[in-house]
Amino acid sequence: MTEYLHLLPAYRQYAEVGIEERVGWIRADRWQETADARAALARLEDLLSYPPRDRMPCLLLYGDIGMGKTKIIRKFLRDHQPISDRGTGVTSMPVVAMQMPAEPVEGDVYGERLNAMSAPGPSGDETFRLKTTCRTRMLIIDEIHALLTGTYRQQRVFLNVIRFLANDLKVPLTCAGTDLARQALLTDPQLAERFEAFHLKRWSNTQQFAQLLASLESIMPLRQSSQLGTAAVRRKVLDMTDGFTVRIFRLIETVAVEAVRNGKETITFESFDGDNLVLPLVADGAAH
Ligand SMILES: Nc1ncnc2c1ncn2[C@@H]1O[C@H](COP(=O)(O)OP(=O)(O)OP(=O)(O)O)[C@@H](O)[C@H]1O
Ligand SMILES: [Mg+2]
Repeated sequence: MTEYLHLLPAYRQYAEVGIEERVGWIRADRWQETADARAALARLEDLLSYPPRDRMPCLLLYGDIGMGKTKIIRKFLRDHQPISDRGTGVTSMPVVAMQMPAEPVEGDVYGERLNAMSAPGPSGDETFRLKTTCRTRMLIIDEIHALLTGTYRQQRVFLNVIRFLANDLKVPLTCAGTDLARQALLTDPQLAERFEAFHLKRWSNTQQFAQLLASLESIMPLRQSSQLGTAAVRRKVLDMTDGFTVRIFRLIETVAVEAVRNGKETITFESFDGDNLVLPLVADGAAH
């Protein structure tokens, strides 16, 4: 049996299986720990371990569409899953994440949703429940750029609620969104002061990018080694994707699928030139 030395030991078995199974594997959702993702997770861990104090630090994870913000949050949630106490039947949720609604609905939807969580008051109140029963130690709000689709008034309400959460909840608040969301947050001087920012930058020709391609090569179930480690391929991939994480993953997945289907079993510089290389519609990055 071939040894598939170009693959990580745990992944060699996948190179053995049939074509469609491998295509399915290549396209499946997975988590890849990139340099920036690792740094962002370390920041989140640090925040989580913060002892309660009057003004808890807040973090804004921002970057272009498809840079992996939600992926990082999901990974962090997996690392801090709810724990059920069988005796009491109580589930504690160390990290609670929610998403901004995708579009404004009737009324002050942002305000109402978030107010429901933050209205101060005794039992029954959602904040109280989170902190006592659920022992929540961090609140995450993803896709905060959705606030920009609201009216001016909705935006002010939303920012007020964020300020309330940041000031009074006494658990660290993490928000994730695009650069526009960052700018909206900065229009509130108090929030500007409270939030530290972590920027997920677009990929450029760095050692970290070389590492990302190398690690993709080491897990893609191709039977031959590929040229993802060469400078030429690195430049080509950056050219074709403008350094957006989502496009890089999609592009490598596409050429890997092609290499499995056409029997070449390897990704070379030419793989990126193929006439029949049909790239998914992520060109403007806003496909979803
Ligand atoms: N660390 C990662 N491991 C594996 N795939 C990733 C990773 N980061 C990004 N991706 C790929 O990029 C896609 C987009 O990532 P994600 O949804 O996290 O981006 P986002 O920054 O939240 O975008 P948006 O601004 O649209 O919410 C994912 O569906 C996945 O295919
Ligand atoms: Mg997202």
